[in-house]
Amino acid sequence: MNPDMKRIGVFCSGGDAPGMNAAIRAVVRTCSYHDLHVYGIYRGYEGMIDGEISRLEKGDVANIIHKGGTILKTARSERFRTKQGRKAAHESLLAHDIDGLVAIGGNGTFAGARIFEKEFGIPVIGVPGTIDNDLFGTDFTIGFDTAVNTAIQAVDKIRDTADSHNRLFFIEVMGRKSGHIALYTGLGSGAGGILIPELATDVESLLAVLNKMAKRNKLFNLVIVAEGNENGSVYDVAKAVNKKFDAYETKVAVIGHLQRGGSPSAQDRILASRMGHGAVVGLIENKHGVMCGIQSNEVKYVSLDDAIKKKSQIDQDLLDLAQIISL
Ligand code: F6P
Repeated sequence: MNPDMKRIGVFCSGGDAPGMNAAIRAVVRTCSYHDLHVYGIYRGYEGMIDGEISRLEKGDVANIIHKGGTILKTARSERFRTKQGRKAAHESLLAHDIDGLVAIGGNGTFAGARIFEKEFGIPVIGVPGTIDNDLFGTDFTIGFDTAVNTAIQAVDKIRDTADSHNRLFFIEVMGRKSGHIALYTGLGSGAGGILIPELATDVESLLAVLNKMAKRNKLFNLVIVAEGNENGSVYDVAKAVNKKFDAYETKVAVIGHLQRGGSPSAQDRILASRMGHGAVVGLIENKHGVMCGIQSNEVKYVSLDDAIKKKSQIDQDLLDLAQIISL
């Protein structure tokens, strides 16, 4: 137990993710349950530097569990990358006597938290909030399930028009460095191809699959492309395939930031509630420099180092399955 843990700061940083509000709510309500004061830090590290910090009471997080985005706002902070920026952030925390931090975000958020904790000795626990699902130490990150559901709903609509016109659609989903959204969206929407940044894109083998499908009289097809494809944008990939494949007319659709918004799914609300609670309990129990994840339905703490560096691996079995059942 850490008897000095009396005032906790909570913030979101990096790309927003549906379920962040549910996590903030869980942090505030858990603090209240344990008679701790909680402070909301606005606009991530930017607001920490600028001292945009205010006390959050139980009522401040009423009616937000179902809302997308984050009531604390978020930002990607260049200033926090500098020692001067981090020093200013530390001074803001001192001004509010903050003893510990809950950092809700992804890779960049945790990288900043790690350095900050090492430099200034403020205990930090991370809550994995990113649609990318690319952190080691948790089966899923907050926002991933909602993003995949949003993407699948969009692909279902594209499927209707692809079917009506006998077209081949290349559909770009988010994930500059991570193919998890593409994999789950592709598998869940019965796509004929899934291209992810973790694996080299072999246009020839994609062509072989598309030709095979066209030969068995499949009248349309869908290929899901993660935005971080090595061959360039989804338009470049579509062009490369189109040059050698004329079974259907080719179209491109980019789902984009639609994937980041919207009401969180049940799974994301529950995940966020458990992780937000787990982060506060961890700080009370004197844990720090860790991320609160959920593995096989159990709350687990892994070091921020591992969470960032080991990266969540793409499930090859799921990729193989998608291929087998799409043929
Ligand atoms: O990290 C989440 C994410 O949505 C990625 O999938 C995507 O590559 C990136 O953020 C987009 O960032 P921004 O909204 O800053 O353009």
